[in-house]
Amino acid sequence: METVHVGLGDRAYDIHIGPGLLSQAGTLISKISSRKRMMIVTEENVAPLHLKTLQDGLAAAGIQSEALILPAGEGTKSWPYFEQTVEWLLAQKVERKDLVIALGGGVIGDLTGFAAATLRRGVGFVQIPTSLLAQVDSSVGGKTGINAPQGKNLIGAFHQPSLVLADIDVLETMTPRDFLSGYGEVVKYGMLGDATFFEWLEEWGPKLAAGDQGARIAAVKRSCEMKADIVMRDETEQGDRALLNLGHTFCHALEAATGYGDRLLHGEGVAIGCALAFELSSRLGLCSQEDPSRVRAHLKAMGMKTDLSDIEGALPDADALLDLMGQDKKVVDGQLRFILAREIGDAFVSADVPKDAVLKVLQDALDQC
Ligand code: GLY
Repeated sequence: METVHVGLGDRAYDIHIGPGLLSQAGTLISKISSRKRMMIVTEENVAPLHLKTLQDGLAAAGIQSEALILPAGEGTKSWPYFEQTVEWLLAQKVERKDLVIALGGGVIGDLTGFAAATLRRGVGFVQIPTSLLAQVDSSVGGKTGINAPQGKNLIGAFHQPSLVLADIDVLETMTPRDFLSGYGEVVKYGMLGDATFFEWLEEWGPKLAAGDQGARIAAVKRSCEMKADIVMRDETEQGDRALLNLGHTFCHALEAATGYGDRLLHGEGVAIGCALAFELSSRLGLCSQEDPSRVRAHLKAMGMKTDLSDIEGALPDADALLDLMGQDKKVVDGQLRFILAREIGDAFVSADVPKDAVLKVLQDALDQC
């Protein structure tokens, strides 16, 4: 088992990464809590695969557990299910010192974390992420919340988990498409801050996608280390944490244009968005022309969506996509903030990107469709 420590003073916690962690959950959680009863929030696709293993793992350490099984899908990250979750936890008589366990992907982690943040003004929670995307991104760093009709993640709180258990075995139950979508966030870390990791992924990416467990552990660990490092520097996103949004301004416009659904998964949008961010950086003379080509070559070698032409169906025109970017919550004082790059592994936040340059990148990408 590998461990990454997130050093946030009295809110510090460990991320354990390795195989078989669901079965060891009771022992691992017992190291941070003496409670003998825990509440699990999960969803209907994850429960048949992993809930019993987790409950048996807790029982092996003398921890009795109750579970709330919610519907799967982004629609669950909403007021009605937030209310249901909070009321269920209250009915279970959750106390301040209890731990609530989130067993699932980003939707369950974000919703459960937000419920934990607000219940009794804050109870502890444990993240047990069951998707690659949740293991390398959403379960780490304390962003919790739900969606509003006006946009994604508009209601929420920073509330750090007390422990994260990233069980590498659960990745075997993911579909190849979902796995590669999560890989979009993995490769993002290399692009934004670690050229050596990007180079390693160029060699090892296809092997970890094919199931190499050692490579999966190494990739999740390096991703969590990089996220932990950024979160320790800037927990509430006043500065550097925005680097984690490389590719996301383009991605959020594309997700909005495709209805936040099966046409484009979040990590697929991140990958395409990173390719566009490197293209924009190159056209602004910030990075070499080879960098966007190398990014696109790796995404293509992984069999991932790389270009706008890889998205099925018609897309809005460049002006409409730019408008959708304007609704992104990373707009500050009406200025679009982009994460640009000087080279692979060296990204920075920029608030003064000429709109014409963005429009031209979008227009040229749409012309290839
Ligand atoms: N997913 C971006 C962040 O946690 O800041």
